[in-house]
Formats: sequence, C-alpha cells, structure tokens
Amino acid sequence: MIRILLSTTSYQDIPGPHHDLLASSGAEVVLERGPLSEARMLELAGDFDAFLCGDDVITRAVLDKATPRLKIISKYGIGVDKIDVEACTEMGIPLSFCPGVNHTTVAEHTFALMLALFRHLVEEANYCAEGVWKRMTGHEIMGKTIGIVGLGRIGREVALRAKAFGLKVIAYDVYWPVEFAEANDIERASGLTQLFRQADILSLHSNLTEETRDMIDARSIPNLKDGVVIINCARGELVNSVDMAAGLASGKIAGYGADVLDEEPPAADHVLLKAPNCIVTPHIGSRTYESVVRQAMMATENLINMLKGEKPLAQVNEAPIPAAMI
Ligand SMILES: NC(=O)c1ccc[n+]([C@@H]2O[C@H](COP(=O)([O-])OP(=O)(O)OC[C@H]3O[C@@H](n4cnc5c(N)ncnc54)[C@H](O)[C@@H]3O)[C@@H](O)[C@H]2O)c1
Repeated sequence: MIRILLSTTSYQDIPGPHHDLLASSGAEVVLERGPLSEARMLELAGDFDAFLCGDDVITRAVLDKATPRLKIISKYGIGVDKIDVEACTEMGIPLSFCPGVNHTTVAEHTFALMLALFRHLVEEANYCAEGVWKRMTGHEIMGKTIGIVGLGRIGREVALRAKAFGLKVIAYDVYWPVEFAEANDIERASGLTQLFRQADILSLHSNLTEETRDMIDARSIPNLKDGVVIINCARGELVNSVDMAAGLASGKIAGYGADVLDEEPPAADHVLLKAPNCIVTPHIGSRTYESVVRQAMMATENLINMLKGEKPLAQVNEAPIPAAMI
C-alpha cells in the first residue's frame, strides 16, 4: 500500500474538502506534527512513497535514507528553503509547491503586524486586560514610505494595500515586474542600500537564499533610517536575530513585527521573544480558514496528480514524474 507522510499541522487541523480528496487516493496517511527536524525526518525516512510536507528539514541525508521508496514530494506552501532541491532533482524526485494561493492572506497579516506596532496595539490591549487605562500615543502610517524587498506575489499584494493606506511605495527585486510597477506607481530602488536609506517601513518578502540570508544584520543596520519599523512575514533567517535585538534595544529600529523566526518553534529564551517593540506571531501569516483550504487543495491535487503519473499544477524542479502508483 502507498504510504504518505503528512506533517503539516494547519492542513490537519482545519476542516475542508482536502481531507476527502486525500482519502480518495486510497493511500495510508501517517500523521506527524511538523515542522520536523532533520533528526526526526531521518527516523521516519525510508517507509514512505510520498511526503506531503510543510517546513520540515529535508536534507540530502534525509533523501538518501528516504529513497528508493520515496518517489515524490508535495510541498504545502511556497517556500522550499528547508528542502535540498538540487538533491531532489539529482535523485529524480519531483517536488511540487503551491504558488498563488496564500499571497492575499500573508499581505493582510503584514498590515496586522504593521498597524499593531504603529498603534502599540498589543501593549495597550495588555494594559486594558490588567485594568490599566494607560493611553499611549502612536503614529499614523499615511504618508510614510514603505520599502518592499521582493516584489513577488506577496510583495505585490502588500504594495496594493500600502497604496490604499496612502503610503509611498518603493521596492527592490532582482526581477522587476515592469508592468505592475508602472500601473501602480511603484518606484524601483537600485539596490538594497538605496531602499534601506529611504524606507520608514521595511517589509521583507523575498525568498530565503544564500544571498538574502542575514539581509538585516550589524553590517546593514547602519544603512537603515533611524526609527525604521521592519516587518518580516517571509523567513526568519532574512534577519540576524541578535543584531535585530541590539537594533531594537538602541532605538535605531523602532519596531520589528515578525511572523517568522530563525528557530521555529523558538527556544523559550530566544533573543527576540522579549526584545523591546517586537511582536512575534507563530508563523500564522498564511493560516486562515480561506487560505489553508486553497493551499491544502492545491498540495493534495499536486500529490494525487503525481501519484497518477501526471504533472502537478506547479513543480519546483525538473525531475520527471514517476510511473503511476495509484
Ligand atoms: N509567513 C508565512 O506564513 C508565509 C506564507 C507564504 C510565504 N511566505 C514566504 O514569503 C516569501 C515570499 O513569498 P511569495 O509567494 O511572494 O514568493 P514569490 O516567489 O512570488 O516572490 C519572492 C520574490 O523575491 C524576489 N527575490 C529573490 N531573491 C531576491 C533578492 N536577493 N533580492 C530581492 N528580491 C529577491 C524574487 O525575485 C520574487 O519576486 C517566501 O520566503 C515565502 O517562503 C511566508
């Protein structure tokens, strides 16, 4: 019998038609609560024909142990930075993913964090809950300049919403979407340094690569405007946590809203959990009932297509699809 490892929690926890669709494959589905470490993946690897995974660590060593039984991987989500894509391709394992299903939901979360920081929302709500009527003065975002790093699917949705809030939008991307930028009056920054110098609010939406890792660190922080507010709904590793904590403590950075951390879940003493003016949410940017169902349906369709020997809706690498298994 075909065995599938299903490790994403939002897929499991949220009701919707994806559960019936997955059951229709007739496969045995083994549930784990991800994101799984490399050590846990190494324990599990070898007994599955397919992974339906979230942000579990799938290294070459995991793939070595998982093959030859493992034939396909369906990534639930868009970021494949925890998967050794090159090794997948070399070993002939097609890897599918889910672009275009969670960008609106993540953009909304970006503004939730941004507005919360500008209006001291968490602090104020906590005071009220304690019976303290302490009125702090915030800032409005209208008229400020937002710098967007990565004008991809989510970055563009953030840009559109920023315009509606009356923000000036500048952005930097290695691939510039000419038509979108022109149609929406988005200024192109020549590089990160220019973007950092101009942005009152910096919102990170690029993929995690070796080039973008530690984009915000002790070397780049001096290039930021004094009192910048940074939002990160992309990947924790884009920001060096220790350097961010120091930037917040000195006041150079006025606020950090992070939906993602370099360690998830974080250790209780993670440097950003108690940093001043820092709001951390537990990687829930795409976790809405609407988005989870869209993403789960796409990940399941991808999986079932590949189990049938057909192409998925979206594939990351160019490995050939194996012969039908169901
Ligand atoms: N918080 C969440 O729950 C959540 C949910 C979905 C996606 N994400 C993360 O959000 C990020 C963006 O997702 P997306 O769907 O918009 O992806 P996308 O691929 O559509 O966009 C990413 C953009 O980043 C750009 N980019 C790559 N390298 C760059 C660099 N060095 N400098 C500037 N730009 C660069 C790409 O050209 C692309 O336009 C990913 O890291 C993804 O993992 C987080």
